[in-house]
Amino acid sequence: MNNFTFYNPTRLIFGKDEVENLANHLQTYGKNILLVYGGGSIKKSGLYDQVIQQLQKANANVTELAGVEPNPRVETVRKGVALCKEHQIDFLLAVGGGSVIDCTKAIAAGAKYDGDVWDIVIKKAPVHEALPFGTVLTLAATGSEMNSGSVITNWETKEKHGWGSPFTFPQFSILDPQNTVTVPKNHTVYGIVDMMSHVFEQYFNNATHTPLQDRMCESVLKTVMETAPKLLEDLTSYKHRETILYSGTIALNGMLQMGYRGDWASHGIEHAISAIYDIPHAGGLAIIFPNWMKHVLDRNVAKFKQLAVRVFEVDDTDKDDREVALEGIERLRQFWNSLGAPSRLADYNIDDSQFEQMTRHILANGPIGNFKPLHEEDVTSILKACL
Ligand code: NZQ
Ligand code: ZN
Repeated sequence: MNNFTFYNPTRLIFGKDEVENLANHLQTYGKNILLVYGGGSIKKSGLYDQVIQQLQKANANVTELAGVEPNPRVETVRKGVALCKEHQIDFLLAVGGGSVIDCTKAIAAGAKYDGDVWDIVIKKAPVHEALPFGTVLTLAATGSEMNSGSVITNWETKEKHGWGSPFTFPQFSILDPQNTVTVPKNHTVYGIVDMMSHVFEQYFNNATHTPLQDRMCESVLKTVMETAPKLLEDLTSYKHRETILYSGTIALNGMLQMGYRGDWASHGIEHAISAIYDIPHAGGLAIIFPNWMKHVLDRNVAKFKQLAVRVFEVDDTDKDDREVALEGIERLRQFWNSLGAPSRLADYNIDDSQFEQMTRHILANGPIGNFKPLHEEDVTSILKACL
């Protein structure tokens, strides 16, 4: 493995009814709080009322930013930044899924920056500070609750970019599986695909001798694959929601990525697609990942074979390595399909008409991907395979 430094300052508060302690966690911060949430799921579930009660208990002066959209938009971030400046906000509280949390991170950094927050998203302006923020997570998927990354979309330029900084880790995140039982089936599936994809992005790297990291990745994958069908049978199951919620956090809080850089090309390709078509992030990943895997397979057939045997339980007797590896990729596709995830761009009525623009955005900063850098012909070939 390569040298590494691990840093993760987020206080993770996990378990039943932990929202009842929210007021205590707010004690150390100022009283002017911006409450950020999405399109209304927290009002339906009753979580909004619970959170407001806690904010009252903490004697907070609350300003609200509602309506953060899935694939959060820079316009909404700008609104939040303006609210922070107008109301001298001390602390932000994100209540929702990855989109709400990502939007909150951008607001937190934008509030401490004099220019337009898009400069931060496109990494034109470095982040030197950010307002502190906490989260109450309602959807298991992105890992945003315990990492410093954020993904923001600009509809004018049709760009979607990920960015992050050491100042945009949440101060705390409250994860109560009960707050995820209302997530509908489709978003539950997307969350499962997203967290598995995060593991794949890290599993395929160029470091040698990473036996513990490999086993950690494989056990997250196996646990998610064992649990997912049971959860889909009973979306209200606390114990399965708990396992999936914890898996989503572990998949992208930095613990699986010690000693190497992951690949992340599939995420880059997906962001270019959802920046144009506004499809769910993991819907795109379910289509791209198996095709990316086939395209880069020869970079390290042994690693793909390891995945096939250990995670997808492919029998390798009397088969060559490539055959075993390909069978593993096919089993992944079948597994995601069995959950109801899409497998072709056509499932979203997407054709090749925007491929040129997507490819330009994907390769704007040069070849993409660390495991195997992809050039124009690679990206085009993967996109075509996704049709
Ligand atoms: O807006 P509301 O009404 O809350 O509804 C949301 C939304 O429609 C709903 N939902 C959330 N919790 C719910 C619920 N519905 C019922 N009950 C609940 N408990 O679910 C829908 C999707 O929510 P969203 O936050 O968009 O989903 P997700 O958590 O998957 O986040 C996706 C975003 O995160 C980015 C993606 O690109 C996308 O923009 N990512 C962020 C990452 C990060 N920061 O580390 C990494 C990821 O790879 C990803 O790129
Ligand atoms: Zn993702």
